[in-house]
Amino acid sequence: MVEKTFAILKPETVARGLVGEVLRRIEQEGFRICAAKLVKATEKQAEKLYEMHVGKPFYKELLSHITSGPIFVMVVEGESAVQRLRALVGATNPAEAEKGTIRGDYGLTVTKNAIHAADSQENARRETAIFFAPEEILDL
Ligand code: RTP
Ligand code: MG
Repeated sequence: MVEKTFAILKPETVARGLVGEVLRRIEQEGFRICAAKLVKATEKQAEKLYEMHVGKPFYKELLSHITSGPIFVMVVEGESAVQRLRALVGATNPAEAEKGTIRGDYGLTVTKNAIHAADSQENARRETAIFFAPEEILDL
């Protein structure tokens, strides 16, 4: 089924000038970009984004990292987009991510692992709404 999902190129990816490279990989896999912009996440947006991780040992580091600099937020569409984008992104820890995945090739550390991708359609919708107004999501 064709569906939309949500992703973030994390601050280190923007700072390293890898936005184009990562977008190329996403587009090459057949995903179509429905919305995209560069933003600096507020504390509030970061807390909403990572609400499922409250209380975990890495929560504070997650928040400080995602608010540390500009991020590139996007909505992409494709067949089974949630699952297929997660596969392209690779394992959470870049050291364990396969070569050819975004994290395997560009991730630096578990925190600086290049990209975030929503893990369910429900979370994709929830996360999209944190950063985009409905009219910003284009119907392709
Ligand atoms: P994401 O949500 O960013 O796409 O990553 P994920 O599903 O693969 O991993 P998740 O468990 O949802 O964790 C969210 C982000 O938290 C950082 N993390 N650090 N130090 C640690 O043990 C640890 N575990 C996770 C990662 O940056 C991960 O992307
Ligand atoms: Mg996750």
